[in-house]
Amino acid sequence: MPAALAALVAAAGPAAAGTTGSSGAGDPYFPLAGNGGYHVKHYDLTLRYKSSSSELQGRAVINARATQPLTRFDLDLKGLTVTGLTVDGRTAGFSRSGQELVVTPRHALREGEDFKVTVTYQGTPRPVTDPDGSADGWIPTDDGAFLAGEPQGAMTWFPANNHPKDKSSYDITITVPEGRTAVSNGVLLGRSTAHGRTTFRWRQTEPMAAYLATATIGRFKTEQYTTRDGIQVYNAVDAREAGAAAPVLKKLPSVLEWESKVFGPYPFRAAGSIVDHAHDIGYALETQSRPLYDRAPSLSTLVHENAHQWFGDSVSLTSWKDIWLNEGFATYAEWLYSEQHGGDSAQKTFDELYARPAGNSLWAFPPGNPGSGAHIFDSPVYDRGAMTLHELRKAVGDPVFLRILRAWAAEHRHGHGTTGQFVRLAEHKSGKDLHTLFNTWLYQAGKPNRS
Ligand code: ARG
Ligand code: ZN
Repeated sequence: MPAALAALVAAAGPAAAGTTGSSGAGDPYFPLAGNGGYHVKHYDLTLRYKSSSSELQGRAVINARATQPLTRFDLDLKGLTVTGLTVDGRTAGFSRSGQELVVTPRHALREGEDFKVTVTYQGTPRPVTDPDGSADGWIPTDDGAFLAGEPQGAMTWFPANNHPKDKSSYDITITVPEGRTAVSNGVLLGRSTAHGRTTFRWRQTEPMAAYLATATIGRFKTEQYTTRDGIQVYNAVDAREAGAAAPVLKKLPSVLEWESKVFGPYPFRAAGSIVDHAHDIGYALETQSRPLYDRAPSLSTLVHENAHQWFGDSVSLTSWKDIWLNEGFATYAEWLYSEQHGGDSAQKTFDELYARPAGNSLWAFPPGNPGSGAHIFDSPVYDRGAMTLHELRKAVGDPVFLRILRAWAAEHRHGHGTTGQFVRLAEHKSGKDLHTLFNTWLYQAGKPNRS
């Protein structure tokens, strides 16, 4: 289906679709991302990776609940070959169309009915190219693969309801050649080696959006420990990055402690870092409970990706358009961390950015309206997004500002939040009319006037 038509179908919503689950979750920037008509409660993924042939064999057992009557529904899967598909143990019909895996169960599903989809698949996974030209998904590296799924790439390695609107728990079991390590989200339940292959069993209990799943493979040195707060840390580091990474990773417990003090309790039982050696990728990702880095991170990047655990991972987007709720907040966490650890004050960082001339790319568009998926990771989203929070802080004062951040993390913990909800929360906690402030900083084109 052409994208424009898909957008119309998605916008029409499930009601108009009768008993057919829509092909997208209704996101204006990524119309085919996610699907309508059901909610995934749990993914149980069993993967086997052969490095000699770069081949992946997978089985996904998906426990879902129908949110409408369904004679047909979609999953998102890009590339790979589906070798079998059952619904509740019975062979179901399926077809492929672009990223849509269209499933026709033998019997229609009732609204509210729980059902189980099992998909077996194989092939050589390839990344997707995002509208901004970056690669995401299963990205091959010289010793395995870097698995980063924001915004679209989860569907390159498992069939998913691929939109942050839908969050699920995960079991990810992955077998790799002995000597390689496969690092995923959550807690490592066990590892075992037999016949030259090692199997890693990971469990992510708290709800997770598909884009935050990873199962990154490489030759890693690993370490495990528990923090004073009882968080289970697992770090995996490519030997080529180990020297540069060590002093930064050592700070993870103190960074999490500081962030917990500022934002409220850390939302997950597990934490850690995956430091790969894949500089071409050019970005890090806040994979849930264990951020993924393409190189040894700087301290500010470590602060940023872990701040996302509160803002983006625990509190999820309902629409990619709201991306500043992730990136503006994680960037502002960097500013606050610097200010409270002997570095530049947030005001100084704000002033330096504000000094940029009107023609600078920082002012290319307002952060609340990036315009398309091609701009969701551009500087206005990160920097002007953080500047918006700084303006809020100045308007309401430090104590109320921190109360707002903590309430946001607490009230939407393991859930979702929208820009509108954040604005209402800020107004409620401060007792102030903040319409002009947010309107100016989030939605007005061009460089805003200073308040
Ligand atoms: N959320 C990541 C970060 O700010 C950036 C992900 C960029 N993804 C991409 N496909 N370019 O840490
Ligand atoms: Zn970020």
